[in-house]
Amino acid sequence: MAKHSQSEETFGAATSFNISGRAYEITDHTFDVIVVGAGGAGLRAVVGAAQAGLKTACISKVFPTRSHTVAAQGGIAASLGNMGKDNWRWHMYDSVKGSDWLGDQDAIEYLAREAPQAVYELEHWGVPFSRTEEGKIYQRAFGGMTTKFGEGPAAQRTCAAADRTGHAILHTLYGQSLKHDAKFFIEYFALDLIMEDGVCRGIMALSMEDGTLHRFRAHRTILATGGYGRAYFSCTSAHTCTGDGNAMVLRAGLPLQDMEFVQFHPTGIYGAGCLITEGVRGEGGYLANAEGERFMERYAPSAKDLASRDVVSRAMTLEINAGRGVGEEKDHLYLYLDHLGADLLAERLPGISESAKIFAGVDVTKEPIPVLPTAHYNMGGIPTNYMGEALNGNGDDIVPGLMAAGEAASASVHGANRLGSNSLTDLVVFGRAVALKCAETIDKSSLHSDLPKDAGEATIARLDGLRHASGGTPTAELRLQMQRAMQDHCAVYRTGETLDAGCKRIDEVWAGISDVKVTDRSLIWNSDLIETLEFSNLIAQAAVTINGAANRKESRGAHAREDYPDRDDKNWMVHTLAWSDEDKHQVKLGSRPVHSYTLTDDIDYIEPKARVY
Ligand code: FUM
Repeated sequence: MAKHSQSEETFGAATSFNISGRAYEITDHTFDVIVVGAGGAGLRAVVGAAQAGLKTACISKVFPTRSHTVAAQGGIAASLGNMGKDNWRWHMYDSVKGSDWLGDQDAIEYLAREAPQAVYELEHWGVPFSRTEEGKIYQRAFGGMTTKFGEGPAAQRTCAAADRTGHAILHTLYGQSLKHDAKFFIEYFALDLIMEDGVCRGIMALSMEDGTLHRFRAHRTILATGGYGRAYFSCTSAHTCTGDGNAMVLRAGLPLQDMEFVQFHPTGIYGAGCLITEGVRGEGGYLANAEGERFMERYAPSAKDLASRDVVSRAMTLEINAGRGVGEEKDHLYLYLDHLGADLLAERLPGISESAKIFAGVDVTKEPIPVLPTAHYNMGGIPTNYMGEALNGNGDDIVPGLMAAGEAASASVHGANRLGSNSLTDLVVFGRAVALKCAETIDKSSLHSDLPKDAGEATIARLDGLRHASGGTPTAELRLQMQRAMQDHCAVYRTGETLDAGCKRIDEVWAGISDVKVTDRSLIWNSDLIETLEFSNLIAQAAVTINGAANRKESRGAHAREDYPDRDDKNWMVHTLAWSDEDKHQVKLGSRPVHSYTLTDDIDYIEPKARVY
C-alpha cells in the first residue's frame, strides 16, 4: 500500500540504483515547495513561500549572492513617478509596444501594476537605492520608456542603486530569506524533474561538494534557473547561465516557448562581452560611428539612443555593415560618456567606469568605450500563466506541480523584446506571484504520496553515462562549436539561408555528444562532468532556438529576418512552442495564441500598431 507523509525533511539513504555495476545511493527529502535557483526570482519566491509557513527548500548551483542577478546594473522599472509624472498604464503600454505585441497583455498588466509595490517592498527590506535631492528613490531614463501612452516625453522610470542595482537587490533578498525558515542546498546541481503521469513531483540533484545524490519531493517545484546566454560565443551572461531548468523541462517532454527571441544588448564591451549599462545612455551618453556621427538620430528620430534595445542593436549592426564601424577592423562602435563629467560618473556609474578600465583599458572620463551588440537575455523560456504556473503546451493547460519565474519563464511579459530594466521587475513581481499562488493552493497538512520506486533512475543512468563518457571530443570543443554556430547564424540579423545552415551545424554538434570525452570520473567537484551536463543543457536550447528562428517567417522584436523584414500579425502573432528529443536530436515545433485580453477592466487591450521610436 502506498505510504503518505507530511512535508518534513527526511535524511538517509532511501534508495539505491545499480547502474552498469555501480551503486548510487540516493537521499530523499520532502518539502512543500522546492525553489531551484537563488537569483532574484528564486530568492523572492523563497521569502514568500517561507513567510507563508510552507516548508521551503532552495537548491542552487552557486552560492546565492553569486547568482547572475548580481550583474544587473541599470535598475528596476516601476512607475513611481519620482522624477516626473508616471502611471502604471504607461509602463504597460511601453512594455506591450516593446514586446512587439508578442507579450501576453494580462501578464504585462500584472507586471506594471505590481511593480511600484514590489520596489517599495525592496526599499523597506533595505535595498540602498540612490536618492533624489528630496530623498526619494532616484529614477533614470531607459530605452522605450515613455509617458502618455508613447505620446509624451521619455519616462524616468528605472529605479537605480547607482549602477549596481542587481547586486543591491540580490544581497537584500538573501538577507531577507535568512530571516525565514527556509533550507538552502547550496552548490547542488539540479539534474532532472521527477514527473509522474504529467504531474511534477520534484527534482533530482547532485551535491557538487561531496558527490551525494538527492531526490527532492514537493507539492510545488519552482524553476528560477535563469537564462542560457552561454549558448553564444559573446554574451553578457555569467559562465553559469546555462538554462538548466529550461533543459530539464525539455527532457521531461514539455515545451519551451518563444526561444527564437534572444536579446542583444547594444553595449557589451568589444572583445570581452561585459555589460555596459543602458543607464549610461539614460544619463546622457550616446553612440557614435567612425565619422563621429550620432547615428541613432537617423534610425529613431524621437527616442534616439533610448530607442528599445532591438532597434539600437539593429542600427549598430547596419552601421558596422556599411563600413562605418570603428577600430582597425571597423567592427564595433563608440559609446561616449566623458561629457557627463567625472562627478556624475563617480556617483551614478561607478561600476561600469571600473569595468571599462579593466576590460577595455578605457578611462571613461576621457575616452569612449568600444562596444558591440552582445547576447544578453532570453525572452523565451518555460511557458507560464501570469501566476507562474507552467503550461503543458495544450493551450493554457497547466503542468500540475510545476512553476517557473524570472528569466527561465516566459509569462510572457517580454514577448519578442524586453525593455531594459523590466527584468529585475519581472524577477521580484513574479517571484512573489509564484509564492502567493503556492500559499493559496498548498494545504500544509496534505500528505505526499510515495514516489514511484524507480523515480530518478533514468536520471542517474544518464549521469553515469556522461560521467564515464570516453569518446574523443572534449566538452570544451563541442561547446565552442555550438557557441560559434549560434553567433554566426542566429544573432541580430537572420536569413533563411544562414538559419538553415546554422540548424545543420547545431545538429552536428548535438550529435557530437555521443563522442564526448569526460576525463574525471569522480563525483566530487568534478567540473569536467558539471560542464558536460551544462553543455548538454545548452545544446538542446540552442537547437530549439535556431529551429524556432528558421521557422518564424517574419521580423518581430529581437527576431530580425532580412528575407522577411515585416511583422506579420496575421500569420505570426503566436507564441512558438518547441519540444526536443534528446536521443534522436530532433526538434518539434508548435504554437499557442498570444493572450489578446487584459487582466482587469482598468485598461483595454492595446491594439497592435507599427512600432516607431
Ligand atoms: O543595461 C542594463 O543595465 C541592463 C538592464 C537590463 O537588462 O534590464
